[in-house]
Amino acid sequence: MKWLSVLALAGSSQAALRFGCSTLTIQRLDPVVEPGNTPSSHLHQIVGGNAFQANMTGDVGEQGTCTTCTFSEDFSNYWTAVMFFKHSNGSYKRVPIMQNTALPNGINGGMTVYYTQKDFNSNGNNKITAFKPGFRMIVGNPTTSTLDNAKKNIGLRFVCLAEKATRFPELPDFPTKACKGGIMTVHHFPSCWDGKNLDSPDHQSHMYATTKEAFQDAGPCPASHPVRVAQVAYETLWDTTQFDKMWPADGSNPFVLSYGDNKGYGTHADYLFGWKGDSLQRAMDSSCMFNACENGRPLKSQAVAAMNKCTVKKMVNEDIDGWLPALPGHHM
Ligand SMILES: *[C@@H]1O[C@H](CO)[C@@H](O)[C@H](O)[C@H]1NC(C)=O
Ligand SMILES: *[C@@H]1O[C@H](CO)[C@@H](O)[C@H](O)[C@H]1NC(C)=O
Repeated sequence: MKWLSVLALAGSSQAALRFGCSTLTIQRLDPVVEPGNTPSSHLHQIVGGNAFQANMTGDVGEQGTCTTCTFSEDFSNYWTAVMFFKHSNGSYKRVPIMQNTALPNGINGGMTVYYTQKDFNSNGNNKITAFKPGFRMIVGNPTTSTLDNAKKNIGLRFVCLAEKATRFPELPDFPTKACKGGIMTVHHFPSCWDGKNLDSPDHQSHMYATTKEAFQDAGPCPASHPVRVAQVAYETLWDTTQFDKMWPADGSNPFVLSYGDNKGYGTHADYLFGWKGDSLQRAMDSSCMFNACENGRPLKSQAVAAMNKCTVKKMVNEDIDGWLPALPGHHM
């Protein structure tokens, strides 16, 4: 029996990654859902490697020369829709993005990315298989239009922040009052892979979600999707506070996601794998947790200044920062 348990342990690890990535760019581009479209239908904040462009194929980990993420071998791209404030006079203003708590100071906007065994705060002892070059996936769907369906998207949530560390309650839609510390959006990806397809026509069916409500362990992977990959999750913090005094008199939520959703039911996120070589597998086979994975133990890392310096050129020429008559890509 002793021999058996040693064997079981040999395939498992306890790694959990949590790291910041500053904003790479905010543009209407989407190489997963709308490859080649310049512009794509709605605006995204993209973080990660500078190989990002409208069309992306091949081994992205070999294409980037810099990344906005802490781990300097992670040229993956991570993106979500962007939040706007809609004034009662009809104009829109993009909501600034602020850095999360528990990250080094000075990160420019961006998001927090997790690769964990279970969920956020605990590591486990699973064998986690790294994604393969070319892998991509999305979670959520901008066309989700009912609260019931939004509730079924476990792991796609909003948090009304009292302060940056607020984590509960998690809401399936936008908060209905001004939030003192801003709004956090949370996106959990599915973590069971079919073991074969790097993508699928809907960018989802090669994956299966066993996510439960936040901070709970996921269920087992089904036979159709037997390979446990890392639980990838994003947290994005939106600094809504400058709009508190402009909250509409009728009390309705003034925030809207960049594809025109003021309920938040269609919240979604995209992932395009781009870790260099075997770096992600080495990390997931180790037992490091969060900041302890930095400085070559086992992952190479970089300082905030280097993260903030990495960028890509503007490929879609339009104003995204003024008071706008319509959301970018939407007509009045
Ligand atoms: C990008 O991808 C689209 C769709 O696959 C294709 O039609 C287009 O020619 C590609 N553009 C470039 C610059 O590779
Ligand atoms: C709406 O209000 C904002 C903030 O006061 C202002 O900057 C913007 O120009 C206004 N838009 C219109 C169409 O009046």
